[in-house]
Amino acid sequence: MMKPSAFYIAVFCFLLPALSIEAYDPLDPTGNITIRWDILSWTEDGYVAIVTIRNYQMYRHIEAPGWRLGWSWARGEVLWSMLGAETTERGDCSRFGGGVDGPPHCCDSSPKVVDLLPGVPYNQRISQCCRGGNLGSMVQDQAASASMFQMTVAAAGTTKKTVRRPKNFTLEAPGPGYTCGPARIVDPTRYPSPDRRRHTQALVSWNVVCTYSQFLASATPTCCVSLSSFYSKMLVSCRTCACGCKSNPGGCAGPNSPDLSPAPRVQCTSHMCPVRVHWHVKLNYKEYWRVKISVTNFNYKMNYTQWNLVVQHPNFNNMTTSYSFNSHSLGPYGDINDTTMFWGLEYFNDMLLEAGLEGNVRSDILFGKSKSSFTFANGWAFPRRIYFNGEECVMPPVDVYPRLPSSSRKPTSCVLDAAVTCILTLLCLAMSVWQ
Ligand SMILES: *[C@@H]1O[C@H](CO)[C@@H](O)[C@H](O)[C@H]1NC(C)=O
Ligand SMILES: *[C@@H]1O[C@H](CO)[C@@H](O)[C@H](O)[C@H]1NC(C)=O
Ligand SMILES: *[C@@H]1O[C@H](CO)[C@@H](O)[C@H](O)[C@H]1NC(C)=O
Ligand SMILES: *[C@@H]1O[C@H](CO)[C@@H](O)[C@H](O)[C@H]1NC(C)=O
Ligand SMILES: *[C@@H]1O[C@H](CO)[C@@H](O)[C@H](O)[C@H]1NC(C)=O
Repeated sequence: MMKPSAFYIAVFCFLLPALSIEAYDPLDPTGNITIRWDILSWTEDGYVAIVTIRNYQMYRHIEAPGWRLGWSWARGEVLWSMLGAETTERGDCSRFGGGVDGPPHCCDSSPKVVDLLPGVPYNQRISQCCRGGNLGSMVQDQAASASMFQMTVAAAGTTKKTVRRPKNFTLEAPGPGYTCGPARIVDPTRYPSPDRRRHTQALVSWNVVCTYSQFLASATPTCCVSLSSFYSKMLVSCRTCACGCKSNPGGCAGPNSPDLSPAPRVQCTSHMCPVRVHWHVKLNYKEYWRVKISVTNFNYKMNYTQWNLVVQHPNFNNMTTSYSFNSHSLGPYGDINDTTMFWGLEYFNDMLLEAGLEGNVRSDILFGKSKSSFTFANGWAFPRRIYFNGEECVMPPVDVYPRLPSSSRKPTSCVLDAAVTCILTLLCLAMSVWQ
């Protein structure tokens, strides 16, 4: 078995990739939001297109106030009319002499488009529109993972050869975090006819792939993890200043000042995170062991609708029951089946209410003991990584994890221990350089 210090270094190595700045999520390596631009017909001076925003991320969703898609026209194109979405600005349309409400819809060279709210009249809708910019994730709400709008573009090319791809796509959700690549020509999208007996095909199709980076989204983390277990009296709190410090300018809200507007909104705590996830190792049976996960909201002004957790632990290859959360195994990636996504039960705990109200949700989960690896020693029973709503949570330092009462090291193992530690440190350094 690994020695404790070796274990800590192994865990640290394991967490290193999370520190890299690239928009790569090891728990969802191909996760992205793809924007597809399908030209369906040519008009006298342009075309009619349907744009589809599809969320191919396993667990990251977009909630109110929703997505905002921007681009720059390549050559003075004009957005003549729109269904299923609208631009935030109309821009300067004086050169077209249209009335205040007449076309064009938007004359900006860099339009920004937002979804319409549910309940807009039928003549302004198309299918898959009008959900207020909400975009579900693949696992939690695949039916709502795409958003569509239709537009008529004028002053554009009217053939495959003369039409120009828009540039500089941006996707806000609604804040920063996503980076979009260039529009690429792809095989034309096929659409089923209404009776689904025939397919029609777009004349031209372009794809834009946008990927997420937590570092772009927020300078500081938004979530932390605390730990405890039945076999130790020690409660390991969230790291101090995990998401900010109480003394920082902007401050925080006390229990009796939840209505102080506009800021601050986060309750005063030593970690200053809006969300804390607590992992308690609760019981040990002969063939099973049991954990309680609690998620607490410290934000006085935020209800997290459709919240989700992603947890990595080697024993998720043998999770038996999740009592009060939905769960879905996200693996395996390669041969490793160690990651599970959790979210609330409908009408029961699918909304994590704001702090001060019932601001927490919890569930027990039961693991079958993995014969080869199960142990309570060296913090094995604690999670390796936790994400809340797709944002990685700050773990406590590994050297303060609750310890088994008997886990005192034997002096004879010191040399071996030091050797293992040394090798792992070198490996770890090599890995970080290679990255
Ligand atoms: C985006 O997601 C789709 C669907 O999972 C995948 O086929 C595609 O390779 C991804 N693209 C990138 C650049 O990761
Ligand atoms: C796109 O962005 C680049 C870099 O910011 C800029 O130089 C270029 O002019 C932009 N293109 C358009 C069409 O706005
Ligand atoms: C959160 O939900 C509760 C109960 O539905 C509601 O009273 C409260 O106003 C909501 N808060 C926010 C910030 O939307
Ligand atoms: C991964 O583990 C879960 C149990 O937590 C199991 O239901 C699922 O079938 C496993 N998947 C694979 C591919 O082994
Ligand atoms: C899963 O747990 C059960 C119950 O403890 C055990 O019998 C089985 O061997 C475990 N399976 C694996 C793959 O570890």
